[in-house]
Amino acid sequence: MCGIIGISSNQPVSSDLINSLSKLEYRGYDSAGLAVFSDGNIIERKTQGKLNNLIQRLKNDPIDGHVGIGHTRWATHGIPSEKNAHPHSSSLVSVVHNGIIENAEEIKKDIKSDYNFLSDTDSEVITALLTQNLNKENDYYKAVSLTVQRLEGSYALAIMFKDLKDTIIGAKKGSPLVVGRGEKGSFVGSDTIALSSVATEVCYLEDGDIVIVDNHNIKIFDQQEKSVNRDYVNFSISQDDTSKGTFNHFMEKEIHEQPRSVGDTLRQFIDYDNSIISNPDLKINWQKVNKVHLIACGTAYYSCMIAKYFFEQQSKVPSECDMASEFRYRDPIISKDTLYVFVSQSGETADTLAALNYCNKHNAETLSIVNVVNSSIARESKHIIYTKAGPEIGVASTKAFTAQVITLLSLSIICGSSKDLISNNQNQIMCKSMLTSPKIIEEAIQRSYALKDAAKELIGSKGVMYLGRGTAFPLALEGALKFKEISYIHAEGYPAGEMKHGPLALIEKGLPVVCIVPSGPLFHKTISNIQEVIARGGKILMITDDSSLQSESENIWKIFRLPDVDPILETLIYTIPIQMLAYYTAVELGNDVDQPRNLAKSVTVE
Ligand code: M6R
Repeated sequence: MCGIIGISSNQPVSSDLINSLSKLEYRGYDSAGLAVFSDGNIIERKTQGKLNNLIQRLKNDPIDGHVGIGHTRWATHGIPSEKNAHPHSSSLVSVVHNGIIENAEEIKKDIKSDYNFLSDTDSEVITALLTQNLNKENDYYKAVSLTVQRLEGSYALAIMFKDLKDTIIGAKKGSPLVVGRGEKGSFVGSDTIALSSVATEVCYLEDGDIVIVDNHNIKIFDQQEKSVNRDYVNFSISQDDTSKGTFNHFMEKEIHEQPRSVGDTLRQFIDYDNSIISNPDLKINWQKVNKVHLIACGTAYYSCMIAKYFFEQQSKVPSECDMASEFRYRDPIISKDTLYVFVSQSGETADTLAALNYCNKHNAETLSIVNVVNSSIARESKHIIYTKAGPEIGVASTKAFTAQVITLLSLSIICGSSKDLISNNQNQIMCKSMLTSPKIIEEAIQRSYALKDAAKELIGSKGVMYLGRGTAFPLALEGALKFKEISYIHAEGYPAGEMKHGPLALIEKGLPVVCIVPSGPLFHKTISNIQEVIARGGKILMITDDSSLQSESENIWKIFRLPDVDPILETLIYTIPIQMLAYYTAVELGNDVDQPRNLAKSVTVE
């Protein structure tokens, strides 16, 4: 969602602001803007649409200075337009905001007689309050402090006051704000990726913090207005992590990174001395865990659905899954012997964070599986495991998903072993098998190039159905999500066995149906379900393995085969073709694969 950047530098900042905004593009946005101090004034430039429009505007009408703020906006209140783009400025102050101000209407009503609002956004009330409070107090810090006290909702802010040259004031509650320092000066930004080309050290602000930065000083005050030190960490994100390299899209690159990201994630669970899956650093008393409750959104939720099978099969622990956006609204009963597991790539998803806060409030045992180090979910959890996927830039989640799956599989084995349900020998066998996953994923990628032709033939389809049974059912849901979010073609995932209870009515001649059917106990049952679809004209793309008995002639449109694998690795391997099919279709359609319309990478609003 929205991204913010603020730079106080010993050099002109316009190109660094643009560079940082380009690194924030992955979050999803529909307008962009910046403001810099120039000749004693704050001058802004804003445009609707992609960053290129802003770059063009700056070419035609350049501005520069040593201090500036910038913003990418993902519309919530008010349509994407130049008028609603940030910064929002008055004669005294200029502000960029990430988050949602829930009491914006109430504030507007209170002050509209004294302030001329120019946009439809909730954010502009911050500019109005700052202007009013500065007039009242004549103290910049106090003006910010009074302003944020009035705000309900979430905010990360970067603020420039017209008469406070060289300085940016930042503030945060509920939305992340990172502070950085480097050779060129001091910085605030929505995430470390935004600061990756300028900062060498970063610290993470806490909720309620206000930070004052200039070229060589950074002062942080906590909610009680006390000066505090937050720990800085050295940081470097390599250029490779934030660029596409030789690939056409980040999504393509991230699909190809999965042998590495799964291997790196798995490594933290391997006890190489004993060749078993284990993680002594994780201080969970597994013997006391009688239930696992998994909570997440979107793709991360589907990894939770897969984990339900893992925990029940490997550790005989009853498991439940919830979409985070629904969880807290049914007043869930929190129990002491349940482990609450939160899964998130970004670690900032508002609904997942709110669900975690609900559990924390009820003293639950919480574990989070998160990709972004030091993100809000990571910091709020009792136990934390980081997936080692590296920065995921494409909005469609790929490598984070497989990293979550291998993590959850490892945890279910650790849980089963702690409960003596998995012997040392069985653990060793699974460990050996899991260590082959990077190699098999690589082979699945190589084979999936063949799906390009199938993708071409999906263009123009009214919709696509995805079917599976067992763990292939959540994979069908994930396949449909991936497909719809980047192809904009309707897609639906369904348990194959449920088709006859309603969705079979959707099947008509030529409707593409992607069936995920590994060999195994559910193979023949799924084939029967597929026959029912074929009988009604469905066009079957069957994803199966080398040893499955299905032959091409049996009215199947296409059969795509993966290498035979240990059943515990099936979900990992079968993920690859469904990612590639979605990717090829979106590319064929000429869609914006990495930043699909209407979507944001990090969903920081409810
Ligand atoms: O950052 P998170 O994993 O918490 O994000 C959850 C969802 O927003 C995310 O997985 C979304 O569904 C993806 N765009 C799917 O590809």
